[in-house]
Amino acid sequence: MRKLAALVLAAGKGTRMRSRLPKVLHSLVGRPLLDYALAAIEGATPGAQTSEPGEGQDGPIPIVVVASPESHAMRATFDGRCRFAIQPEQLGTADAVLAAQATLASLSPAPSHVLILPGDAPLLTAQTLLALLTAASQSASPLALITAQAPNPTGYGRVVRDQQGQVSAIIEEKNASPQQRVITEVNSSIYCISVDWLWEYLPHVQRNPVSGEYYLVDLVEMAARQGHAIPTVSAALEEVMGINDRVQLAEAEQIMRRRILERLMLSGVTLTDPASTFIDASVQIGQDTVIQPFTTISGQTTIGSDCVIGPQSVISDSQIGDNCVVIGSWLEEATLEARVHVGPMSHLRPGAHLASGVHLGNYAEVKKSFIGAGTQMHHFSYMGDATVGENVNIGAGSITCNYDGTPIKKQTMIEDGASVGSDTLFIAPVRMGRGATTGAGAVVNHDVPPGTLVVGMPARAIRRVHTKEGETRATPHAASATEQSEEPGGNSASANLRESSDASALSQAAPLSTPKRGEGEE
Ligand code: UD1
Ligand code: CA
Repeated sequence: MRKLAALVLAAGKGTRMRSRLPKVLHSLVGRPLLDYALAAIEGATPGAQTSEPGEGQDGPIPIVVVASPESHAMRATFDGRCRFAIQPEQLGTADAVLAAQATLASLSPAPSHVLILPGDAPLLTAQTLLALLTAASQSASPLALITAQAPNPTGYGRVVRDQQGQVSAIIEEKNASPQQRVITEVNSSIYCISVDWLWEYLPHVQRNPVSGEYYLVDLVEMAARQGHAIPTVSAALEEVMGINDRVQLAEAEQIMRRRILERLMLSGVTLTDPASTFIDASVQIGQDTVIQPFTTISGQTTIGSDCVIGPQSVISDSQIGDNCVVIGSWLEEATLEARVHVGPMSHLRPGAHLASGVHLGNYAEVKKSFIGAGTQMHHFSYMGDATVGENVNIGAGSITCNYDGTPIKKQTMIEDGASVGSDTLFIAPVRMGRGATTGAGAVVNHDVPPGTLVVGMPARAIRRVHTKEGETRATPHAASATEQSEEPGGNSASANLRESSDASALSQAAPLSTPKRGEGEE
């Protein structure tokens, strides 16, 4: 075999899918069907695997995809990975190959053989394609093909063999006699054909009297009649399974998912219940991570080692470090550094970045925000467009009010060691200084200086506080009001309200910040 090209047939109407979307753009485990055919060919490139059939082939196998004139979306999706030939009218698989003649002839150097495959057989592996190439290169026959045993051959072309066991023809179901219909060896539609022979005999294919289409399978009978012993490679039915309708699409999805999960398990990932676990091929997971049931992980996601994910977590396009726990939560385009705990019932939206050791508890939502190392955010809170420092304690029910009706969201900055009392509202843009404290129910609509306790609505300064270490900090009494009261009934809000009246003189005498809004100011 001197030089190889590949031809993928993908111009069919896909009528049986009953869809507005072209069949080969339907998604299987997050990737369009056509992507799998291209990947199998790319994987069969000499050098991609060590094997000799491609000897003389330098570089990748050029790929031509036969598409319909309406295939703009397909061409846009796969542009750069293959060339396209347009089949003006869908007159059958032989006509589809003919439609690619000029494009194949334009390849330089000209191919001696062409690997033909359908665009709707996504489970095919590169190894099986290589086996076909080997069989073709060891035979004098101008045509070699892949077949499979199908206990229920419905819908497939049947492989008819003579008394010596040589292939004599492929008969489509519509044309098959009752005796031929019970044949369980089926055609995969995957061939390796000598280019010179192909262009000589393809024009001789006649319209099928039953369907009115030109069938590529007719070439098999022609080669047999010429006395060629046609080599066949037997593949698992699962590999050559063609997707014609959505039932077959779901079957293929299940098989493909199982393959991915097995690869993960063999690489050291525990899946408590593979049957309820859905993971895309693009996902990477480290050793000794445990994926609990009812979990879906998709897109460009990487998960480190020794994590526990799920039960019931949905994660897409996210980066998760080592030793993280994500229980019953939803993560989209989020980043978790090491030792982060999330959930149950939390939602990390695009741009959420949790530094190491962050603990998010129940019903936390984070969007476009950085949460510094060691920060705790245990119950019912929302941080949007915020930068939160290290070791901040965010009390239950605290939220950023980042949207004032204008298109640009307003930023909140909470500095290291701050203590946010339960039910604090940050009216952004606003900054809470290092080590500052808000009392429960505070409405913070102007900046809080470092080491200051603010309370009320709108929150106003009541006094300066100092820690033993000399840093400004809330007093134990006020701080207790801002802790996340784990104990039921801890009513810290009333403590703060009492205190605020005592301290109003201080805020009058020495204002710690300038009110920036008119609303509610004294
Ligand atoms: C085809 C084979 C059948 C084989 C089965 C394996 C023929 C006549 N039959 O049947 O022997 O067992 O695949 O899955 O080849 N296509 C075009 N242009 C056309 C018609 C089809 O590009 O005018 C493309 C389709 O998009 C598809 C491929 O060719 O990717 C095969 O066509 P399809 O209609 O699915 O053929 P099957 O009936 O499955
Ligand atoms: Ca098919």
